[in-house]
Amino acid sequence: MNTTQSNPTAQSNRPGDLARPAPTLGDPITPNTTAVVGLQWGDEGKGKVIDALASGFDGVVRYNGGANAGHSVVIKGKRHALHLVPSGIFHPTVRSVIANGVVVDPISLLGELDTLDGLGVDTSNLVLSERAHLVLPWHKAEDAARESLLAGQLSADEQDTRAPGTDHSIGTTKRGIGPAYADKASRSTAIRAIDLARPEALAAKLDRVCRFKAASLKALDPGAPAPDASRIAAELAEAGRRLTPRITDTTYLLHEMLRRNERLLFEGANATLLDIDHGTFPFVTSSSTTTLGIPPGTGLPPHCVREVIGVLKAYSTRVGAGPFPTELTDATGQRVRERGREFGTTTGRPRRCGWLDLVAVRYAAMINGATALSLMLFDVLAGFDELRVCTAYEFEGTRTDRFLPDAADLERVSPVYETHEGFAEEITGARTLDALPAAARRYLDRIEEFVGVPIRIVSVGPDREQTIRCD
Ligand code: GDP
Ligand code: IMO
Ligand code: MG
Repeated sequence: MNTTQSNPTAQSNRPGDLARPAPTLGDPITPNTTAVVGLQWGDEGKGKVIDALASGFDGVVRYNGGANAGHSVVIKGKRHALHLVPSGIFHPTVRSVIANGVVVDPISLLGELDTLDGLGVDTSNLVLSERAHLVLPWHKAEDAARESLLAGQLSADEQDTRAPGTDHSIGTTKRGIGPAYADKASRSTAIRAIDLARPEALAAKLDRVCRFKAASLKALDPGAPAPDASRIAAELAEAGRRLTPRITDTTYLLHEMLRRNERLLFEGANATLLDIDHGTFPFVTSSSTTTLGIPPGTGLPPHCVREVIGVLKAYSTRVGAGPFPTELTDATGQRVRERGREFGTTTGRPRRCGWLDLVAVRYAAMINGATALSLMLFDVLAGFDELRVCTAYEFEGTRTDRFLPDAADLERVSPVYETHEGFAEEITGARTLDALPAAARRYLDRIEEFVGVPIRIVSVGPDREQTIRCD
């Protein structure tokens, strides 16, 4: 088929709309795209990688998650934490796109934009999908109420056998992510960005949804206050006024960008082992965090994802509850936490730390179709006498090199470690692979060999400059 279609956005002048003639559907697109995704439990350094690569692209696109993400970009020693704003924002000519798969807290987004404006960062290139679902105050209230209810629901048996402080909660970021995606799936109580641009219809919808939410919150927590409908309406009217100029049909925008052979960088939020389908369920987030989430989260077909950079730390971390086979609860783990400053970008919680789990990373690289690896925070491992990597699990008397689908089983595996010689020298000044100590290069070689994907980037410090490009 080679049917010429008219461009439905050509008559308007909303941001992201294009004056060019209609693209021709059916012409094959050769996509010039790269995805950056986390291969562990988050906080691998995706923000740094996106910022480092963004100047080679025309657009950076968030496709999943919400303000649960915390992506740090460090420029000349100054740290910026981004939650909803794509990490290419520091490159003013690069378009920042929050696509339909993201759940957007409009107040949080405006707060981030205000902070960036205050720093003199040009945010005029940021657009938001009409189809993106909104995170509203009741989602955060429900997230908190569910977590505390689950935390308190220990049976007497479990209280005897589970470690003190453990419970049935997930340890969410309490940013309302799960409840917002649940409303999206439930449909009739969901509100989308497009609704912000239609104040009268929104007011009626809010009234209806607030009454529904008052009842559903009470069921979770009898003491929960009902949502303050008039306050929320006023806040959303103001948010609508400010955000409407940025709200557009990002699906057409992205297709048209690719048809003009523009380059897109997809920014994964959260990470593979937190994926709703492929992660350590139920200790996961509520979205498709991998490259598999890009088509539904953007409206682009699967072949539009070409290069895939899997980002991993040189060790492992996790925030919140759930299995973590290589976790170190001893002084070594504490030393990794201190050297890596492993405290959450979004919640400030200390991150759990452990050795690199290559079984998990290889599984994650497979799910994403990783074509390259970016190995981060390598500098943190300087000074350890020896370094360990997990290459298999012992489970119920047998050895496996497969990641297991059941969180309870993963809780019970024993990691099988390979021990590698450590390197004493600090490596934060290295800018080439040759400048790394021989033991450090052997560590990288082993990762590459085990995962079966080439390492293209090695990061030796948080700053943009502290990066080794391997090609
Ligand atoms: P993201 O969520 O994947 O973007 O990662 P976060 O920003 O939440 O966490 C990664 C942390 O590591 C941030 O504080 C970064 O500034 C920092 N970081 C990134 N790369 C390096 C590195 O190579 N070395 C060190 N020491 N810190 C790094
Ligand atoms: P970035 O993009 C680390 C974790 C939470 C919790 C679980 C569910 O910065 O790598 P949620 O609030 O999503 O319902 O929480 O997922 N989590 C993350 N951990 N980095 C993240 O994002 C995370 N996003 C969610 O800690 O265990
Ligand atoms: Mg983070």
